[in-house]
Amino acid sequence: MQVTLKIFRYNPEVDKKFHYETYTLEADENERVLDLLEHVKGYHDGTLAYRRSCAHGVCGSDAMRINGSNHLACKTLVRDIGSKITVEPLLGLKVIKDLIVDMEPFFDNYKKVLPWFINDSPLPADGKERLQSPEQRERFDDTTKCILCAACTTSCPSYWGSEDYLGPAALVNAHRFVFDSRDEGAAERLKIVSDTNGVARCHTIYNCTLACPRGIQVTKAISELKAATVTGKVD
Ligand code: SF4
Ligand code: FES
Repeated sequence: MQVTLKIFRYNPEVDKKFHYETYTLEADENERVLDLLEHVKGYHDGTLAYRRSCAHGVCGSDAMRINGSNHLACKTLVRDIGSKITVEPLLGLKVIKDLIVDMEPFFDNYKKVLPWFINDSPLPADGKERLQSPEQRERFDDTTKCILCAACTTSCPSYWGSEDYLGPAALVNAHRFVFDSRDEGAAERLKIVSDTNGVARCHTIYNCTLACPRGIQVTKAISELKAATVTGKVD
């Protein structure tokens, strides 16, 4: 089939403002948007800039706006979106070049929620693992699936309004540790997400949940964090 691919282009070294370039390509309906971008880069314009690494939905590096909403280019099939495709960079982050945005503010917010295991207590007497029941593990299973693609955070109007808002992805990763029965940093993290730039800025719009390529219940996770900031309960 013939596909029309319209791509946002911006090179700060030569362009005063962004523009779009359109390519007409022959494509199989089972090809992915990433395959189309690779074709343009390989055969039409080697200067086209975008991120990708694994090409299989694991690394999270090729999140972009495809026909107006956030997706991973490597998981978006032509047959699911039709023959007219527009590809643009994520909103809310500065464009560095073409489809590449500056992820530093996103990762700065991620780091603020202390996204690592905190437990300074001695190991159990047998010196082995800190045991956890299947039910305790299940409590935070959903939020372990995050690949930090930023599709959620950059689809959130609250984040577009202020990059100081921690954003859905940082809150998802706070949830992952707050509800881990082995972790002892919940009180510290709940204090951080209680800040004016934390959970209070979520207005339950659900854009984040719709955008997440891992199917994480992002809004639900934020709501659980919100409740925990009030009750202090993390089980
Ligand atoms: Fe991406 Fe989903 Fe993680 Fe957000 S929660 S960064 S959309 S994987
Ligand atoms: Fe790794 Fe798409 S390239 S998730």
